[in-house]
Amino acid sequence: MERTFLMVKPDGVQRNLIGDIVSRFENKGFQLVGAKLMQVTEELAQQHYGEHKERPFFGELVDFITSGPVFAMVWEGENVISTARLLVGATNPTESAPGTIRGDYAVTVGKNIIHGSDSPESAVREIGLFFKEEELVSYDKTMSTWII
Ligand code: PPS
Repeated sequence: MERTFLMVKPDGVQRNLIGDIVSRFENKGFQLVGAKLMQVTEELAQQHYGEHKERPFFGELVDFITSGPVFAMVWEGENVISTARLLVGATNPTESAPGTIRGDYAVTVGKNIIHGSDSPESAVREIGLFFKEEELVSYDKTMSTWII
């Protein structure tokens, strides 16, 4: 079973899209194993986007992700890393298909609502950056004794 890291960016939080975004992944059939609203520090932003350090928009990227709260999440499921990227949509909103999160809500490339891990290696690294092991919960929803 795979896990991936997804993060509603400050524009998504500001636009009240957390609920809609969580619903999309729940409805698809994935399971939430960790989530928190948090302020990303400059240091965490630099680490998270470290691979883009040399790109011209790096400063903009760090400023944006630290500009307001984000909603960080870990989701679990079969092929969740690549499937979540499909639900997120292409990086540039001019190329993201309608029906995807970015295709439905984003207009500019810098402000594209959500981040999703792009590989198993990135997922492990990003989950480790944002969450402590004890903040993640593994559970079986077929255990009906919860609600009866
Ligand atoms: S990806 O998804 O990693 O393949 O996309 P990539 O093009 O490499 O972009 C990496 C992250 O940088 C963001 N980005 C930008 N931000 C501001 N301005 C410009 N021009 C720009 N171009 C790309 C892009 O949204 C990626 O952020 P995340 O959070 O990974 O989506």
